[in-house]
Amino acid sequence: MLNLHTDHRSLVTISLLGFLILSLGVAVLPAYQSQNNTEPLPQMEPMSEAEIRGLRIFIREGCVACHTQQVRNIEMDQTWGSRPSIPSDYYYSKQRMGFWQQSPSVLGSERTGPDLTNAGMRQPSIDWHLLHLYNPRIVVPESIMPSYPWLFEDKINPAKEEKTLTIPAEFKEQGVEIVPRRAALDLVAYLQSLKQAPLASQQPEFIQSTHKKLEASQNSVNQDLPSLPDGKNLYLATCSACHQADGSGVPGAFPALAGSAVINNQDPQMLIRIVLQGYDARPDFAQMPGFADQLSDEEIAAIINYERSSWDNNAPAVTVYDVKNIRESIMNQTP
Ligand code: HEC
Ligand code: HEC
Repeated sequence: MLNLHTDHRSLVTISLLGFLILSLGVAVLPAYQSQNNTEPLPQMEPMSEAEIRGLRIFIREGCVACHTQQVRNIEMDQTWGSRPSIPSDYYYSKQRMGFWQQSPSVLGSERTGPDLTNAGMRQPSIDWHLLHLYNPRIVVPESIMPSYPWLFEDKINPAKEEKTLTIPAEFKEQGVEIVPRRAALDLVAYLQSLKQAPLASQQPEFIQSTHKKLEASQNSVNQDLPSLPDGKNLYLATCSACHQADGSGVPGAFPALAGSAVINNQDPQMLIRIVLQGYDARPDFAQMPGFADQLSDEEIAAIINYERSSWDNNAPAVTVYDVKNIRESIMNQTP
């Protein structure tokens, strides 16, 4: 008769079997299955060498303590991506760190800062990321994120080909230039690669909706589209990270839009070109990326009209056709 109260051998054997069966069934097999049945989405690209090094810096610096990379299937997560995260999203980031170290999990469980699943989409500028890592307060005055100055070097006389940061005077010593180390550049390459790839099924819908938009704009030539999207929200989502919500800019990095001559010019040509193509005219400011790929004509017109009528600015509104014409003339210039 088997008596577990007196026979320690059976007790250990049965517990051990139970442990092994449970481990296999609950942990090992599902992990194995999920690993073998996961393929990257068609539009995902493998990580570059620099991005992989950046991922390691992300782990080394403990960024995961404050940042998640997972969009859950609940309403409050909808701001962080166009869809909930799926296993395929992590296909390329399962880079084994070494023989004894597993591939890192950067899904995270603390969200002191924003989720980074789509960080590369929201914030495509290298200059912004470098300033933000050097000292987050330069670009987000109320930020509580720590600074990472050790990813940068102070140099009196940097070589010509070295990238230096355009930093407001109060954030650095006089006479020194701040040069990002490779770790900073790699980390930024990684952050910029964080983009949620569209699911195949999302595409036709997306294409359809752009077609509809195009048709709508073609059908209504000669009359302005009655309602533009909300320019203020678009400004806050697209421009305010650099130019700040109140249009005051960051001296030495991003120009103020309040009182800007470009914005208040009666002729909107230059302004529309800047938003479409980006701008890097002056050495005392960083570089602005172009938004031609990200914003529709309607959205650009809405943002511009918001800027032309806010913060004491005062200039006549532009129409969707002003933007459309300039976009077409730019496209005709550059083959
Ligand atoms: C103590 C918590 C904390 C740590 C650690 C931290 N962050 Fe942040 N992070 C924040 C907060 C809070 C914000 C929002 C305010 C801001 O933009 O600075 C933020 C914002 C960001 C943003 C902008 C995201 C967006 O969509 O606007 C990026 C990118 C970022 N952090 C990257 C990093 C990286 C890379 C590291 C590691 C080197 C890191 N963070 C470490 C708290 C943290
Ligand atoms: C990544 C940071 C960044 C973002 C995002 C950004 N800008 Fe800029 N913007 C700049 C920088 C830097 C300059 C100055 C470039 C120079 O003069 O060399 C600039 C210049 C401008 C100017 C010229 C202002 C003047 O008086 O000279 C306008 C207008 C402008 N931006 C509008 C916008 C609008 C509209 C958006 C959103 C669609 C936007 N910017 C988003 C960085 C940014």
